[in-house]
Amino acid sequence: MAFQGYQLLGLVVLLSSLASSISHETASFNRSTFPAGFIFGTASSSYQYEGAASKGGRGPSIWDTFTHRYPDKIKDGSNGDVAIDQYHHYKEDVGIMKDMGLDAYRLSISWTRVLPNGKLSGGVNREGINYYNKLINELLDKGLKPFVTIFHWDLPQTLEDEYGGFLSPHIVHDFQDYAELCFKEFGDRVKHWITLNEPYTFSSLGYASGQLAPGRCSAWQNLNCTGGNSATEPYLVTHHQLLAHAATVKVYKEKYQAVQKGVIGIGLVSQWMEPFSNAKHHRDAALRALDFEFGWFMDPLTNGDYPHSMRSLVGNRLPKFTREQSKLLIGSFDFIGLNYYTANYAANAPHLNAGNASYLTDSLVNLTTERNGIPIGPQAASDWLYVYPKGIQDILLYTKRKYHNPQIYITENGIDEFNNATLSLEEALVDNQRIDYYYSHLLYLHSAIKHGVNVKGYFAWTLLDDFEWNSGYTIRFGINFVDYKDGFKRYPKLSARWFKNFLSK
Ligand SMILES: *[C@@H]1O[C@H](CO)[C@@H](O)[C@H](O)[C@H]1NC(C)=O
Ligand SMILES: *[C@@H]1O[C@H](CO)[C@@H](O)[C@H](O)[C@H]1NC(C)=O
Ligand SMILES: *[C@@H]1O[C@H](CO)[C@@H](O)[C@H](O)[C@H]1NC(C)=O
Ligand SMILES: *[C@@H]1O[C@H](CO)[C@@H](O)[C@H](O)[C@H]1NC(C)=O
Ligand SMILES: *[C@@H]1O[C@H](CO)[C@@H](O)[C@H](O)[C@H]1NC(C)=O
Repeated sequence: MAFQGYQLLGLVVLLSSLASSISHETASFNRSTFPAGFIFGTASSSYQYEGAASKGGRGPSIWDTFTHRYPDKIKDGSNGDVAIDQYHHYKEDVGIMKDMGLDAYRLSISWTRVLPNGKLSGGVNREGINYYNKLINELLDKGLKPFVTIFHWDLPQTLEDEYGGFLSPHIVHDFQDYAELCFKEFGDRVKHWITLNEPYTFSSLGYASGQLAPGRCSAWQNLNCTGGNSATEPYLVTHHQLLAHAATVKVYKEKYQAVQKGVIGIGLVSQWMEPFSNAKHHRDAALRALDFEFGWFMDPLTNGDYPHSMRSLVGNRLPKFTREQSKLLIGSFDFIGLNYYTANYAANAPHLNAGNASYLTDSLVNLTTERNGIPIGPQAASDWLYVYPKGIQDILLYTKRKYHNPQIYITENGIDEFNNATLSLEEALVDNQRIDYYYSHLLYLHSAIKHGVNVKGYFAWTLLDDFEWNSGYTIRFGINFVDYKDGFKRYPKLSARWFKNFLSK
């Protein structure tokens, strides 16, 4: 709530004080502080931005179903039918990026916009392909590199209905077909591919806590889920996401990479886990918590198997890789995308799994955001987001040390404020807490690079206010403001001006 309390002085006063702080900060710290060729971009995703959900031949995804069938699962009962209508505003949005001085844009392809019923056999929607061609070409025209996420949670509803989506190994083949269509259609111009976005979140919030589509979890949790098993399904879904990822990377490397000369990676997320105290059992708990969120993916991708802690705690509920699958997984990336927002305290909780088994308790770690009543950092609008800038350096150093110094892009990092209807437009554009957030995270990112972490770029979440999943439109993560009441007009917040200054060459 900290930044909710900022005092609204006269805008003129704020602007002038900001102007002096901008010149102070960027005089010594700006894009030229980073290594030559370092990429600065913003990130987005199709369901959160595009809108035009039933236009242009797009088919339904599990997010259309989830928001329409269970509006009470979304804080304001909203959905992404229109979102911020980037489908019709893409030229303007690319113009905003160019004006800010950004180098790249991370977007995701809506699977059902290009394959309305999920499979190649159901036909390719040329209108959808054309939309992405226009967006990609507009980016290139304006000197921005497209970084394309192939799957950002909006699974075709047809595949969910036919075989349970990522619960089934059938998904591997269909995902690979879809990804290959993307390489064929866009790979002449797209040189950076991200197979999956935050597979951890898709598995844990989609299948253990049921907060995100498809909204599954065990009945005993009384969370109004539509079915599911929190003890087994998250593990299966991650297993199939990893196999789909590895199969897709193999196809890219064997059939496309030599000709298209692009690179391919995966977009993971991790909080930083700060031990509750320096006691060994809490330090071990913090490492287990990292295993259950980050190692769940990084270990298979680098060593071909799940972390030892997971294998021993989850037992036979954790699927196993065949020797062949392990071989396919090891090294199946050119880079790791890392989304970082916040940190938690991790405390050892040996009896956490006393009730029924669930992914949520298997780690025997109690994650909290405060210690002795003191929060780990200032709270943002989202109840899970506490500002902890040092954590970005901690997770990067940890990744370098533990996973053989991979090439990394920070693929998301950002902070939100409440969508507060009582504020005037002028007031709503004053986002000093966002400037502080970016400034301090970039300082720690730079420090990590100086310590030898191989980071090649940084993407802020997010260019514009957008549909934020189960928070709907109640929060604003944008560097630019979207006026939902007036034709989705876009306005720069102060942080957009700060970025422009930071990025100017
Ligand atoms: C960026 O920082 C460098 C020092 O790191 C400084 O020499 C340069 O003038 C700054 N550029 C701008 C546009 O402020
Ligand atoms: C479950 O749904 C009912 C009816 O929509 C609602 O009253 C209740 O608050 C929900 N419970 C939870 C835990 O979401
Ligand atoms: C465990 O699950 C069973 C049903 O599967 C339920 O009856 C029981 O209350 C659950 N136990 C706890 C602690 O929630
Ligand atoms: C988790 O930690 C919080 C804060 O220290 C404490 O209040 C709570 O009882 C703990 N829960 C468990 C299950 O250990
Ligand atoms: C909205 O803004 C008003 C005016 O500044 C403030 O009093 C109120 O606390 C804000 N509400 C939220 C939820 O941030």
